[in-house]
Amino acid sequence: MWQYGLCVLKGSPSNPSGIHGISKKLADVKSHYREYPDDNKRYSEIDSTNQFADFDLGFSDLALSTHTDNSDMEYPAGALALQVMKKAEQGGESILADCMKATEIIRKEDPEAFHVLTTWPMANAFHGSVSLAPMIELHNNSSCRIMNGGSDFKRVKFCELSRSSWQPMIDQEDMPEFYRAVKLFSELITSPRLLFETLLEPDDILVFDNWRLVHGRRAFQGSRKLIGCFITHEDFVYKGRQAGVF
Ligand SMILES: [Fe+2]
Repeated sequence: MWQYGLCVLKGSPSNPSGIHGISKKLADVKSHYREYPDDNKRYSEIDSTNQFADFDLGFSDLALSTHTDNSDMEYPAGALALQVMKKAEQGGESILADCMKATEIIRKEDPEAFHVLTTWPMANAFHGSVSLAPMIELHNNSSCRIMNGGSDFKRVKFCELSRSSWQPMIDQEDMPEFYRAVKLFSELITSPRLLFETLLEPDDILVFDNWRLVHGRRAFQGSRKLIGCFITHEDFVYKGRQAGVF
């Protein structure tokens, strides 16, 4: 977690009590777990207005581009623990990218884009909830993040599905510059330079820093079941400090 912002715990029992128990050891759990429909395809066929897939594409079998969970919230979950209870017949690989590294690359290679991404406000909206912040937030000099070895990177909020581009925070003449920076960032975190891809086994628990990494998944076929725990950031960092990790 310290070095890469993620880890995979092997050998966990494939039931909700396993991941919930481990998450509670890591930190306070925001909501116990979220259980996806057992058979997404069958569920869609039963009801074309599938209430889960309509609410959140995470409940569908479609590909999910890399994103921050809770990007519409002021304080998104600090870390996520995910376990695939049942693998899909095909596909469903997890994809992740380190946005702290992406930030450092853009800072060096494209200072203009870095300025846009770290200072221009951007809205993320989801079912009536809206947050307004730069896509990449930095700490000021007096409060560098302990977890990242003194880096001024604080957190990313990036979700193409909840980005509200129409919000009138940016002047029309500045739009090309804004979109150039967003495109640069989006391409970087999905490039082989930063993208990490893995297929989780049912006894794996993937834990990652939701303020630092974006995550997504490949499309899949067949039935798949996933359970996740949302962990608060402050408690997660505190537990790490107690354990002498951070
Ligand atoms: Fe997600």
